[in-house]
Amino acid sequence: MSKTSRRQSISLYYATHDGQSRRIAEHISRRLAESGIIAPPQDVAATPATPADMATASVVVLVAAVRYGRHLPEADRFLAAYRSLSSPPPLAFASVNLTARKPAKTTATGNAYVRKTLARYRFTSALAVAFAGRLDYRRYGWLDRQIIRFIMLLTRGPTDPDTCIEYTSWPAVDEFAARVADLHRSR
Ligand SMILES: Cc1cc2nc3c(=O)[nH]c(=O)nc-3n(C[C@H](O)[C@H](O)[C@H](O)COP(=O)(O)O)c2cc1C
Repeated sequence: MSKTSRRQSISLYYATHDGQSRRIAEHISRRLAESGIIAPPQDVAATPATPADMATASVVVLVAAVRYGRHLPEADRFLAAYRSLSSPPPLAFASVNLTARKPAKTTATGNAYVRKTLARYRFTSALAVAFAGRLDYRRYGWLDRQIIRFIMLLTRGPTDPDTCIEYTSWPAVDEFAARVADLHRSR
């Protein structure tokens, strides 16, 4: 490890609409802190990351929510900026969606949102996973609630409009954080 790389740290970003991706990023940040790695979570909607911000990191982490079949637009802008780097640090990408409530849909190959994102940006060596998010019908507007209930009906999920379930597997988030820390140490 060079003297320069020792000074680099992990840059941890999230893109959220309803807060679960932020909670996941905060959890990762706490786990990293326990390993002595300071990586405060940053909201890419509030402070868009520039390629220069990313270039100096040991590892770039993005936790991004899915809405209506796509990651949030600010996550897409972030990935496009990352893609523009000529010599990028490794990317650890975590997609947050409800499809991932099924265990087979938590991997880079099993989760269509992750798979399509990696293909779209031609990322090959990324650490990429999907975490199940949160279903909370009461906080959605009427139309969103009806659409999500219909999707849940089709995918055998809960349709009771009072349902509030956090599907996120926190042990899986811990494992991701540990892998990110390993990636950082190997730099
Ligand atoms: C309006 C809306 C659309 C959504 N669309 C999808 C979707 O297309 N696929 C999916 O797997 N999950 C979908 N979800 C579930 C979200 O990905 C899940 O609630 C996640 O926790 C959101 O992350 P956030 O709280 O960080 O915004 C949707 C949720 C809402 C409210």
